[in-house]
Amino acid sequence: MRSNIGTVLITAGPTRERIDPVRFISNYSTGTFGYEIAREAKRRGKRVVLISGPTSLKAPSGVKVINAESASEMLKAVMKNLASAECVIMAAAVSDWRVRREAGSKIKRRGGAMRLELVENPDILREAGRKKHGTLVGFALETEGLEKNAARKLKEKRLDLIVANRLSSKNDVFGPGRVDVVIMDRLGNKTIVRRKTKKNLAKMVVDKALNFNI
Ligand code: CTP
Repeated sequence: MRSNIGTVLITAGPTRERIDPVRFISNYSTGTFGYEIAREAKRRGKRVVLISGPTSLKAPSGVKVINAESASEMLKAVMKNLASAECVIMAAAVSDWRVRREAGSKIKRRGGAMRLELVENPDILREAGRKKHGTLVGFALETEGLEKNAARKLKEKRLDLIVANRLSSKNDVFGPGRVDVVIMDRLGNKTIVRRKTKKNLAKMVVDKALNFNI
């Protein structure tokens, strides 16, 4: 039997959903926060598996990186590695939709409107919550109703902890700057965090995740 002691599984970065061989749907995620979490977990002596969407970041040393382009690829990689993890932290900004039919060759202009039919992607975090092994940490990105929506996600996705981010001009969610977040756990505890660097926030989140053993 494989030991499940000491492995932290992290998702990071955006996903890309292909439209045709040259185009895709994605989002502004840079992966910074997920990579900081991976670095921090490694610093604590954990075995770290980082499942990463496309980013320009350098892999933290000593961390096993598995690249995944689309949500479907990321789901597969997560499911394969879930059972061996004591703690799972899902920081990826997974695209909620993909194109129903990816074109095999470049779509040409036809002089007029162009319709794309989108279908929902799997919710990787929810799937992990169903299989629940170790401590499960998710994120929420909201433009409104921050705490209410995050509390709902915490419960519905069967998480232990959630880090809620508000998307606003003052909160550098996607960039290298400081962020304000609210961290909530399933026991009803709430921590309000202001103007933290992603590095310091990563320390805090890893601390809370590794010490959450109820
Ligand atoms: N997530 C995921 N798979 C998806 C969508 C989201 O694993 N297809 C995870 C993210 O990694 C994050 C959490 O779910 O940890 C919340 O993501 P968020 O975009 O805030 O919320 P959604 O659940 O997609 O809900 P909505 O878009 O309605 O706000």
